Amino acid sequence: MIIVSKLSDQQRVLWNLHNIGGELKENTRTLNKKFLSGEKLSWLTCYDYSFAKIIDSTDIDMILVGDSGGMVTLGYKDTSPVTMDEMIMLSSAVRRGAPNKFIVGDMPKGSYEVSDEDAVRNAMRFIKESGCDAVKLEGFNEKILSRIKSIVDSGIVVIGHIGLTPQSLAQQGGYRVVGRDKKEVLSLENGVESLINSGVFSILLEALPPDLAQKISEKSGVIIFGIGAGKFVHGQLLILHDLIGLYPDFRPKFAKCFVPQVINSYIENKKSVFEKSEAFKDDGIYSISKLAIESFILEVKSGEFPSDEFSYKNN
Ligand code: KIV
Repeated sequence: MIIVSKLSDQQRVLWNLHNIGGELKENTRTLNKKFLSGEKLSWLTCYDYSFAKIIDSTDIDMILVGDSGGMVTLGYKDTSPVTMDEMIMLSSAVRRGAPNKFIVGDMPKGSYEVSDEDAVRNAMRFIKESGCDAVKLEGFNEKILSRIKSIVDSGIVVIGHIGLTPQSLAQQGGYRVVGRDKKEVLSLENGVESLINSGVFSILLEALPPDLAQKISEKSGVIIFGIGAGKFVHGQLLILHDLIGLYPDFRPKFAKCFVPQVINSYIENKKSVFEKSEAFKDDGIYSISKLAIESFILEVKSGEFPSDEFSYKNN
């Protein structure tokens, strides 16, 4: 008999590949089970092997290799220049560090707009070359819906992303809350319905008034994640570099850094952060990051995050 807990990471990947239905690795079924039981889901971005290892050691539900990696790790001013090759490199590294997590690859600008064939080819690269479990696409116009349907028809899990969509920042008039007027509200509500009809597994809402995000979540039969969309959604996404305070160039309202509360709580209890860590004995940033990520997960699960301080105002 195979004792699964004794398997190495590499053996576990193989075990998962050959044991469809096993509960070792997070998958759409295990995620839906949590959603249906009312559990809030936690989702965090990651772009490299070392942080993936830290995240892998926590109970995070999902990882996103976002094209935001173009900004926080490659230094681009925005996400427009990010290429498929760069995304494959980043997501492969994350997969090596987090063999058992559900990883979503973010389709970069230009990798899915031209044709359905192009979109399927690039989505396939994420799955085959970097071992991602799903892909994420921004938008919901007729062309995007057709791309999503084609990718889903090819057997790949797709997550939709609407509201503020950084790849069309110029068209949207810069960083702003979306869904403030009637026309936008109607368009977003129709968009959610169209995305669900196109076969998405889940939808991410970015920068929406909390009351609108709540209305969408209550009506939807799929998992609705939010980033800057208030607490009344089914799950929360956060950018790793915001969570650990590693990207000072731009900090949106929802970007909570969890490091100060971790350090303060240890100071108050006159304890060393490192004594309590289950990580390596001689580590530093590893332990602090792990504790900060665990605080994020706890606050998502309890519904504490995002508080009003990290949410936009209602309409
Ligand atoms: O690239 C990314 O990290 C994203 C989030 C901003 C939602 O798409």
